[in-house]
Amino acid sequence: MTSSALEPAAPITDWEGFAFDTRQVHAGEYPDRNTGLRVPPIALSAGYVFEDFDDQVERFAGTPARPGGAFPGDAAATPGAIYSRQGNPTNAVAEERLASLEGGTVAVAVSSGQAAISSALFALAQHGDRIVSTASIYGGTRILFGRSFQRFGIDVDYVWDADDDAEWERAIHPNTQAIYAETIPNPRNDVTDLRRIAEVAARHRLPLVVDNTVGTPALIRPFEHGADIVVHSTTKFLTGHGAAVGGAIVDGGRFDWEAAERAGRSYPLITAAPRPGLGSMLDRFGAGAYARAVREAVVNDIGPALSPFNGFLLHQGMETLSLRMERHVDSSLAIAAWLEAQPEVDSVDYAGLPAHPLHGIAQRDYGGRTGSVFGVTVRGGIEGARAFVNGLRVFSRMTGIGDTRSMVIHPLTSTHASFAPEISERLGIGPGLLRLSVGLESADDLIRDLRAGLDRVAAR
Ligand SMILES: Cc1ncc(COP(=O)(O)O)c(C=O)c1O
Repeated sequence: MTSSALEPAAPITDWEGFAFDTRQVHAGEYPDRNTGLRVPPIALSAGYVFEDFDDQVERFAGTPARPGGAFPGDAAATPGAIYSRQGNPTNAVAEERLASLEGGTVAVAVSSGQAAISSALFALAQHGDRIVSTASIYGGTRILFGRSFQRFGIDVDYVWDADDDAEWERAIHPNTQAIYAETIPNPRNDVTDLRRIAEVAARHRLPLVVDNTVGTPALIRPFEHGADIVVHSTTKFLTGHGAAVGGAIVDGGRFDWEAAERAGRSYPLITAAPRPGLGSMLDRFGAGAYARAVREAVVNDIGPALSPFNGFLLHQGMETLSLRMERHVDSSLAIAAWLEAQPEVDSVDYAGLPAHPLHGIAQRDYGGRTGSVFGVTVRGGIEGARAFVNGLRVFSRMTGIGDTRSMVIHPLTSTHASFAPEISERLGIGPGLLRLSVGLESADDLIRDLRAGLDRVAAR
C-alpha cells in the first residue's frame, strides 16, 4: 500500500507496563488520521475491499496482512480483513482491550456469552470427546452442556467437590479434552480454587477454560492462577450497562498443545494443517494459535459474529470497569453483611463474608472482594421468596447480572426450572434462594429496598 495522508496511523498496540486503569481506557485504541476521531468509531461494514487480486489471494491464504490490510489495533492477531463474520475493526478494539486486561495474547469477540463458551469448547472437543466441568456453574451453561453439547456428541462430566482428587481422576477420561470452571459461580458465589484445578489440569495435560464473567479481570485474572483460556459473557460487567448482549474468548497463549497431544489429547484444529501446503495454526500463529482456530475454524463457520454496535458499547464499557467493580463490591460487602443480620434471612451466600466456608479462598484470591452476584435465602421457602421479591422497588425483577441496576431473580423457578429436583438440591438451589446482582445505586437505598422486601416476609 502506498503512503497517503488518508491511511490509518500505525496502531498503538503495546500498552504493556501500564497500569490496569490506564489499559482499560487505552488498550486497543487507534488514532484515526482520516478524521481525527478520538473515540474508535462503529465500523458498520459487512466486508472489506481487497487492494488487488493478489491481496485477495493472500488474505484468503491467511498470510500475515499487509500494512493497512488488518484491523487497526490488532495487526498481529487478526487476519487481513475479509468479512465481518470473522472480525471487525470496532470489535478488534474491544478484543485487544480485553486481552490486555486479562493478560492474554489474543481475544475473539462473539455475539453472546453462550456463543463464547460454545466456540471456546468446540475448538477443543468434537463428536466423541468429553469435557469435565465443576458442578457449580451458571444454569444456562449446564443446559447448554446437557442439551446441545450432548446432541453434538460431546459429553460433560461434573466434579462436585473440586478438592477431591479421586473425583477428578474418575471424571477425566482418555478422550477428555478440557476442564471447565467459573471463577465466581453464578448464582451462589461459591468461589473456585483455580490453583487447585489448574494443578489437576496440568497433571492431565488438559487446557483449563475459565468463565470469568462474574469475577471480571478487575477482581481476578485467571491466567495468573493457572487458567489457559478465559471466556466471558460481556453482556454483564464488561459492557456494564445492560444494553448489549456479547461474549469473548481470550487465549492465554501458554498451553503446550504438542505436549498435550504427546500425552494422548487431541487438538486437530490447532495442530493439524488445515489444507495441504498450509501450516497448522500453531506453526503460523504460535501463542495466538488457539484464538486463531476459534476465530477461523469455529466462529467463522458457525457465525456468532458480534455486531460492531455492541462491540462499541463493549470497548467503551470497559473504560470504566475497575471503577464500577469497586462500587459494585463495596455495596455488596455492606449489603451481604447487613442481610446476614436480618431475622427474616436464613443464609447469605457471599464468600467475602468471614463466616462463609470458602472465605479462605476469597481472601487469598480476591482480598475478600468476591463480586456482586450472590445468593440470599429468605425464611418461608417459595412463599417467603414471593413476598420478598414482590416487596422490592429498586431491585429489578429480571434475569441478568452485572448491570448498573440491581436485579433479583428466583433461580429455582427460572434459570434452574428445567433441572431435576435432586440436581437443584445438590447445587443448593433451594425454594427460598434469591440471586441478587448489586448495581451502582446508593447502598443505603438498596438496603432500604431489601428491608421493604423482608418486611413482606415478616408480615406473612
Ligand atoms: C457466568 C455466566 N456465563 C455465561 C452466561 C451467558 O451469557 P449470555 O447471556 O451473554 O449468553 C451468563 C449469563 O447469565 C453467565 O452468568
